[in-house]
Amino acid sequence: MAGTGTLSPPLATALGTYFVWTCLFLLGHLRDFLRNMFFSRTKKKGYAPIRQDYEDFYTRRMYYRVHDCWNRPICSAPTNWIDVMERSEVNGQNPIDVTGRTIRCLNLGSYNYLGFAAHDAYCTPRVNASMKAYGWGPCSSRSDAGTLPVHLQLEKEMAEYLGKEDCITCGMGFATNSTFIPVLAEKGTLFLSDALNHASIVSGVRGSGAKVKVFSHNEPAQLEAILRAVIVEGQPRTGRPWKKIIIIIEGIYSMEGEMAKLKEIVEIKKKYKAYLYLDEAHSIGALGATGRGVCEALGVDSKDVDIMMGTFTKSFGSCGGYIAGDKKLIDYLRAHCAAHLYSTAMSGPAVEMVLSALRVVRGLDGTTSGKDKIERLKKNSNYFRGKLLEMGLNVLGDWDSPVMPIMMFKPTSLVACSREMLKRGVAVVVVGFPATPLLTARVRVCISACHTKEDLDFALDMFRDVGDLLGIAYRSKDNQKHLIAARNSGIELML
Ligand SMILES: Cc1ncc(COP(=O)(O)O)c(C=O)c1O
Repeated sequence: MAGTGTLSPPLATALGTYFVWTCLFLLGHLRDFLRNMFFSRTKKKGYAPIRQDYEDFYTRRMYYRVHDCWNRPICSAPTNWIDVMERSEVNGQNPIDVTGRTIRCLNLGSYNYLGFAAHDAYCTPRVNASMKAYGWGPCSSRSDAGTLPVHLQLEKEMAEYLGKEDCITCGMGFATNSTFIPVLAEKGTLFLSDALNHASIVSGVRGSGAKVKVFSHNEPAQLEAILRAVIVEGQPRTGRPWKKIIIIIEGIYSMEGEMAKLKEIVEIKKKYKAYLYLDEAHSIGALGATGRGVCEALGVDSKDVDIMMGTFTKSFGSCGGYIAGDKKLIDYLRAHCAAHLYSTAMSGPAVEMVLSALRVVRGLDGTTSGKDKIERLKKNSNYFRGKLLEMGLNVLGDWDSPVMPIMMFKPTSLVACSREMLKRGVAVVVVGFPATPLLTARVRVCISACHTKEDLDFALDMFRDVGDLLGIAYRSKDNQKHLIAARNSGIELML
């Protein structure tokens, strides 16, 4: 079923946004010009500026005006309610200080999809015990003295869970992409990367030095057209055939809340004998009846995905990432990946947390807690999305997805929404330019299995209130269509 929402702003909103940005841009440059004329800048003579010109201008003249909306420190576990540390007024270029007071907020910002990030009856005692056994950190890389029995056990159980021969873990999700992808490339490798892939994938692909072609976001038809063309043309200059082509996509796109069109992409990759690399950072644990991710949710055999990547930082409430695949591939990564060879291993307690959470998800703890969490997450997500659509908000993404970007379009609405929601006791993450195109600023809500109906209703009331205040309920006619289609296809919209 098609996803909800649209990325296109109403015309008046688009024009208003360009007008505001143009004014900010002109005023900023005018102030810089006058400053340079009348005050000597503290430039080091003979040195090139260490900060990039445009980035510097953007940071000083735009970001610093509103940076209280980002980098808000919290001082509690990221469960359904959190303590956000209050910060003093935004003050030009000065960093924002905390006042020492905290604001109790409903948490719609953390990726705590299955609610494992705080206390859990099964996981917490095991993590505490492992802390006693292994200490805080291994102080060595996996290939030296950093491999603990829990690392090996986690890799074994994760491979079983994903239906793959083997698995390798890494201390950081971002580094799993940015350091493992380059190992997959050699001379004559071509990456075909979705236009909205995460920064860690972009970093890995760029760091590999291999050729890359970007296809339009989640457009299998365009992917196929590019694939066909590159196979016909071969490598630049020589025309030799590509040694290998690797398609890289995500399970759930973190800024769009949308699932990959996996079935179609698998068909294409099989037809043209390309490899498929799937990043399941947001979908593992969160999608599918048993949490096995987007493959399970969309009825694709995980054997058809050559390289399965994911992180432990969302559904599993810990840190780190993994790659699962054929034994030969994983052995190769173990022998060649710098993050495995030269970077400190995941700490024992963090691994134990993932292992325990995985066992809960698989029902190996002897309860239905994992299954209940997965069901609850799906119900919470569909309830919340349905209510937001009823309210007239423009919500991106697919049904069942716990990631829900609510389109603000105007950066001014983005900032106002963040501040107004905080005032009302709801912590949300806001995303705008340069992380998104200028006209597609959005608030990103992440739903968790640990949200109660009261939590969700409270957040909905606050969104209604702020929506009326800021005029962000665009009331698209499509909203009603999405709701009717969801009801007709049997999606449960009530809790
Ligand atoms: C798709 C995707 N891949 C990788 C990562 C990096 O994961 P981590 O936050 O665990 O470093 C993220 C982070 O949110 C992500 O969204």
